[in-house]
Amino acid sequence: MDISDAPPLTTLLSPGGTPVRNLSTYDPSPSDGFIRFIAGLLRHSFVLAYSFHESARGTMRMLEKIVNEHVAAPGSSKLSKHVPSMGTVHTPLALEAAFDLYDNKYHITQRTHVPPSEDEVRHILNLAQVFSSSGDLQFISFDGDETLYADGKNFAQSDAQKLARYIQKLLCSGIAVALVTAAGYKGAPEKYEVRLDGLLQAFHTDAVPDAALGRFFVVGGECNYLFEACRVSAEVSAADGRCAVRLREAEAGWNDAHALWDEAEATRGLDLAEASLRHTAEALALRCRIIRKERAVGIIAGGAEAKARVPEGSGSRRMRREVLDEAALRLQAAMANAKLAIPTCCFNGGADVWCDLGNKAIGVAALQRRLGVRPAQCLHVGDQFSTSIGNDYAARLSSPTLWVAGPKETQHVLKQLLERRGISTKKTAPAAWPPSTRRVSVFSSHQALPLPDEHVSSAKEAEADWVRG
Ligand code: IMP
Ligand code: MG
Repeated sequence: MDISDAPPLTTLLSPGGTPVRNLSTYDPSPSDGFIRFIAGLLRHSFVLAYSFHESARGTMRMLEKIVNEHVAAPGSSKLSKHVPSMGTVHTPLALEAAFDLYDNKYHITQRTHVPPSEDEVRHILNLAQVFSSSGDLQFISFDGDETLYADGKNFAQSDAQKLARYIQKLLCSGIAVALVTAAGYKGAPEKYEVRLDGLLQAFHTDAVPDAALGRFFVVGGECNYLFEACRVSAEVSAADGRCAVRLREAEAGWNDAHALWDEAEATRGLDLAEASLRHTAEALALRCRIIRKERAVGIIAGGAEAKARVPEGSGSRRMRREVLDEAALRLQAAMANAKLAIPTCCFNGGADVWCDLGNKAIGVAALQRRLGVRPAQCLHVGDQFSTSIGNDYAARLSSPTLWVAGPKETQHVLKQLLERRGISTKKTAPAAWPPSTRRVSVFSSHQALPLPDEHVSSAKEAEADWVRG
């Protein structure tokens, strides 16, 4: 599970000009080698064991042991022999305890027709990582799209009130929090503020203390730009219409890795990436637009203009997954061929494809240095870990990870994390003013009816709902 473990890439064209079709880099499965390995072991027990419950727990106990061995000596571990794609594992994993808790809720060992799925194994792994990391956690980073907010939406549009509360609780308990996103907007903190609208507003409304605000960061363009949270006066906020809790760009030089990047090499890399995307767009008749930035180049759906330009083609509104995967893998091959001195991240973003200079491993590591924390004291939460065309994949080099499928799952893993740290996930006591939070409608004759009551939501919250369910 390490980006450096990806199989070697081959060139796209042989010397004679015929295409070299190469399947070794493509894994369309939604899981990864380690998840498939565990699901396979459980499947055997499901079919063969007299007591699936006992056998599955025994499997988890054994797995815990071989993960420990791998943490201590990854090169020669049994695990890396069973799962050749296995990469860095930064901490032990409390797999047996996680399995027990999951089984207590979903009773998977009572099933007789459906063995544990790869998706369930992903949830159990997340839970095991939360159990192992909760005690010594110092820093947690989040991907943006499909992790903190729904794809293309902003935080406030993603039904994320509880998520906002949990993030505040992490900040107030001394844990540093960062959004680490591919989206690169140099010198434009207001663009990230739009995506984080709702979260920053909640920090303001709930008067999150300055010390806690000082622990909130945004890293944009994978590892290229750093922004810090700050608070401005009501007058400044009224004058420019931005929230009083906002972002400001950090001084250049925050990331040591940049000092090693040569500008000519950066331009060479982006030129090659742009050429690769243009070639793919032409070969597959894509109705797309190419976007070039200071540190990135990508393709997005091209709309009506592209439809008119490419009459026989596809992708004006949305490009198919297979097309995006193909474009991302061609980009990766082109970058590998170029032997660029700067690391790149070529990925399928779900609706677009990008080549960014740098990656999230570098972004997370730079923040770790700034905060003075070790990888084992960190977590990165993201949604793009599948094979090597997801851009959260790189973060595994620098941090233990949680693999989520959307902001609701992020909310659930944070709830587990807070509970393991002994922090209540409930709302804090209502402020002394206004004296009552009840509202009455002047238009309704049922004025005495209470609003949907706190009790109902508290009862729901008390459930161990660590996964969507
Ligand atoms: P993430 O999931 O937060 O890492 O964001 C990935 C998404 O950011 C991509 O799928 C794009 O839609 C968007 N994006 C905007 N600007 C850039 C860029 O410069 N590089 C890569 N992705 C970008
Ligand atoms: Mg994402």
